[in-house]
Amino acid sequence: MIRVGVIGVGTVGRAVVQILEENRSIISARAGDEIVVKSGVVRDLSKVTDLSIELSQDPYNIVNDPEIDIVIELMGGIEFPFEIVKKALQNGKAVVTANKALLAYHRYELQEIAGEIPFEFEASVAGGIPIINALRDGLSANHILSIMGIMNGTCNYMLTKMMKEGVAFDAVLAEAQALGYAEADPTFDIGGFDAAHKLLILASIAYGIDAKPEEILIEGIKNVTQTDIAFAKEFGYTIKLLGIAARDGDEVELRVHAALVKEAAMISKIDGVMNGISVVGDRVGETLYYGPGAGGNATASAVVANIIDIVRSGKRSPMLGFNHPLEEGLRLKNPDNIRSKYYLRLRIADKAGILAKITELFANHSISVEAMIQRPFAQECAHLLISTHEALERDIRALMGELESLDAVLETPCMIRIV
Ligand code: NAP
Ligand code: HSE
Repeated sequence: MIRVGVIGVGTVGRAVVQILEENRSIISARAGDEIVVKSGVVRDLSKVTDLSIELSQDPYNIVNDPEIDIVIELMGGIEFPFEIVKKALQNGKAVVTANKALLAYHRYELQEIAGEIPFEFEASVAGGIPIINALRDGLSANHILSIMGIMNGTCNYMLTKMMKEGVAFDAVLAEAQALGYAEADPTFDIGGFDAAHKLLILASIAYGIDAKPEEILIEGIKNVTQTDIAFAKEFGYTIKLLGIAARDGDEVELRVHAALVKEAAMISKIDGVMNGISVVGDRVGETLYYGPGAGGNATASAVVANIIDIVRSGKRSPMLGFNHPLEEGLRLKNPDNIRSKYYLRLRIADKAGILAKITELFANHSISVEAMIQRPFAQECAHLLISTHEALERDIRALMGELESLDAVLETPCMIRIV
């Protein structure tokens, strides 16, 4: 049995404890050992009354506990967590952290102190996206030509809401905080510093650059106004906070700032808390990484993956991950039982009573229509475009057969699943 201690049972720490508990059986199967949370640390004990772990207020209770194998640092900050993580490593404990501010300032020292002891930090960049893994392992054969993307979920959430819904800056920041996306001090997010911390971590892996935040260009989104947004929209742009690393001969450019991006560009379509990062390698070409960049569960997903990796690598478990069975009773689903939303296009005769017949068939199969549009396209003919709420594959197939047999349906209906 592997025992972990969680220093900081806040947004991310709480989700780590819950995932380890609620997904225990697949985690044990994948790790090759049982992983339990022995204890946690918070400042205010009254905030955590619903978790069945030992709690204290002193991080040293965890780093000095001989029973703890892996220390999870999720309290945030820079100098105090540096002392705590250093002590944990010196005590021979593996460490997992999501703390990018700590790494932006102390990553090289920590690497030195860790030596052969596992030290993992996947969640520190882009929340749930395994970008560290991709860059460190998957792309290790390449010279990295550029890294560019959206690396802060809070700012992307804010900019999306400001652009698409006209929500005011302060109101949307409060929303992002309530959702658990923002840093304890949100100046790190809106000032661009958090994205810069992440960019520096990536730049160290991609390029071996040992720079501190003070050495690179960092601008946030505090100056983005509704007037700028209106102009951006009028001219076909979105506004995004980007982190950019680019190789130029013998130099590497590192910068974080808000940017106008053509609406048609892929990066413009990355909305809300999602992050999206493009990495270009000299051999692989362009690769893209997209997913939730912040939030308790998404971030904890990456933290727990690191814990599993540490346990697995010490256990000589199957490295390819071909577990079978992974969970007792797990089997393939019958395709008929798959649920989806559907788009249907029917070419129909534009005559009285046809819509009623069609909607009756939907009702007979308990398929709920979400939206319906009729577009005339020729004399007494129309295209009927229908989207459904979630339905069973078996029901939609039966419906399609019945629709096709109606006299007023002029050709085989077209169906596309909406995912
Ligand atoms: P959070 O909700 O503020 O939680 C921090 C936790 O640490 C709280 O339980 C807090 O206790 C405790 N803590 C802080 N300082 C402490 C101290 N000196 N002694 C003992 N306990 C202390 O923060 P979070 O959002 O979970 O973030 C945690 C870390 O993950 C940060 O490094 C952050 O940058 C990183 N991260 C967060 C996200 C995200 O989406 N939230 C994503 C990626 C990475 P009290 O509540 O009692 O003060
Ligand atoms: N505050 C950070 C963000 C958390 O919004 O991206 C994830 O690193």
